[in-house]
Amino acid sequence: MLRLILFGAPGSGKGTQSALLVQRYNLIHLSTGDLLRLAIQANTEQGLFAKSFMDAGRLVPDHVVNQIVLEQLKTTLHGKSFILDGFPRTLAQAEMLDAFLLAENQSLSKVFDLKVPESSLVDRLTGRLTCQVCGTLYHASRFGSQPLVCAKDGQPLLKRPDDSMEAVTNRLSVFNQQTAPLKEYYAQKGLLTPVSGEGTPDEVFKRISDVLDGLLKTQ
Ligand code: AP5
Ligand code: MG
Repeated sequence: MLRLILFGAPGSGKGTQSALLVQRYNLIHLSTGDLLRLAIQANTEQGLFAKSFMDAGRLVPDHVVNQIVLEQLKTTLHGKSFILDGFPRTLAQAEMLDAFLLAENQSLSKVFDLKVPESSLVDRLTGRLTCQVCGTLYHASRFGSQPLVCAKDGQPLLKRPDDSMEAVTNRLSVFNQQTAPLKEYYAQKGLLTPVSGEGTPDEVFKRISDVLDGLLKTQ
């Protein structure tokens, strides 16, 4: 059983690596950002509440995020191997997760900390394009004057509303102030594994999968 957290700044590659991990290790991927965007699309009460925080690049309050994640932990993730992408981001969220796992007699396997210099993060985020149908991620630089459509299904690619320069600047500062301190929390538990997020997605994936393959051998 693998219970993983992918920790990293906005644009560090959490979503990109999660997609590769899901294919190789048969994990369930839970991205709180994706769940919140789905709630916005579906016009739910939670989505309407979260939208202004997300568009501004601020954290959605803990009670809303914890409620969404707890529901998933009790249903889709129950008894399964999983990867949490973008959760937890605050001490209150980490404590909720710990309390849940303790009550279920479960524990985390690893927390990967994806490390990417800030200048690359800004470039990755302001150039990011996402397929509105299958969610595949791209960077604008690969298209030149070609049409912005998904290589997998030909659907149009969209820019996320929080990938404007202003929102990206806020997200990076929120990460440094409110989320980065969690690294110490997981380091003290002996769970934190720093991984360079530079190089191609496949190179980054090799670094992560080498650690996971070693871990699985000992299970
Ligand atoms: P969320 O959707 O989680 O956004 P984020 O954390 O800011 O991270 P991103 O999704 O932007 O980046 P990523 O690390 O997934 O990188 P990606 O793989 O896409 O959260 C959005 C908002 O929701 C938050 O701001 C907050 O408001 C709210 N929220 C979510 N969770 C919350 C929580 N727990 N508590 C409170 N609020 C919460 O890659 C980015 C780009 O780089 C892509 O273009 C990709 O193609 C490219 N790329 C990826 N890897 C590489 C590589 N190795 N080399 C070159 N380019 C690469
Ligand atoms: Mg993401």
